[in-house]
Amino acid sequence: MSQARTQPQDDPAKVAAFEARIAAGESIEPKDWMPERYRRQLIRMMSQHAHSEIVGMLPEGNWITRAPSLRRKISLIAKVQDEAGHGLYIYCGTETLGVDRAELVQQLLDGTAKYSSIFNYPTLSWADMGVIGWFVDGAAIVNQTVLAKASYGPYARAMIRICKEENFHKRQGYEIVAVLANGTPAQKAMIQDAVNRWWWPSLMMFGPSDADSPNTAELIRWKVKRRTNDELRQRFVNLTVPQAAAVNLTLPDPELRYDADTENWHFGPIDWDEFNQVIRGNGPCNRERLEARRRAHDEGAWVREAASAYAAKQRAKQASEAA
Ligand SMILES: [Fe+2]
Ligand SMILES: [Fe+2]
Repeated sequence: MSQARTQPQDDPAKVAAFEARIAAGESIEPKDWMPERYRRQLIRMMSQHAHSEIVGMLPEGNWITRAPSLRRKISLIAKVQDEAGHGLYIYCGTETLGVDRAELVQQLLDGTAKYSSIFNYPTLSWADMGVIGWFVDGAAIVNQTVLAKASYGPYARAMIRICKEENFHKRQGYEIVAVLANGTPAQKAMIQDAVNRWWWPSLMMFGPSDADSPNTAELIRWKVKRRTNDELRQRFVNLTVPQAAAVNLTLPDPELRYDADTENWHFGPIDWDEFNQVIRGNGPCNRERLEARRRAHDEGAWVREAASAYAAKQRAKQASEAA
């Protein structure tokens, strides 16, 4: 899609000045000139990220009423609420690029916007709450720590704050994992089963392999992305293998072995057919997730209407006071 880089409004001299700023490590702010293609890529990435935070509330929200203790319930509610906050924060960040949040939300509800493939898998047991915190929030940290150095200022700043909360999410998940892994044989079997089900979908979260990732080169040049999908995936594997060993759990990959030459954990092939099915809308829970979002949106209509009516009333009041 490189033709978009040379759209008429993208004066080559301005593009060159913009790229020089990026190369110098400057951050790009909302009022700065930017190529149209940069703006669009950021809207795409940031809105997908915001949608993922919001849809990501659903698999765990499913277990709030069934948390095994008050303490677990409190931390799970807090975690799910944090994800709502992340979504709203990133939607606001996306609006600094001149797009309306309502438009982005509509794309999600229409099924035309993407969100992270991982949230289309079902949460079958309480152990899944532990493994999601450990793997899914762990993967989010790997991704977002790098995005905190992205060239677009509002996105980078959002990531700094969000990563602090993701660390709490990961710890609450890993603590659940550690308790179950040291529990009764039935608890240990339940957590191992959750690990087996979530491992490969978690590796898929980093997106297609670099060879099949058409946007990567441009995004790296513009410092929107600072590492490729495969680099981030490898980092996640390297961090997670010792954490699994520490709680005596096995990762479901017979090819997993340490490569002393590269200092990486080698892992087996990812089932990209499964990934492609899920992102095309055919994962185990795609329909259910969108249905839940549509229902929540419809049921929340009166809140949006009331907020708009209140805002209009306040504006009218201020106008009459100023007159
Ligand atoms: Fe989050
Ligand atoms: Fe999180």
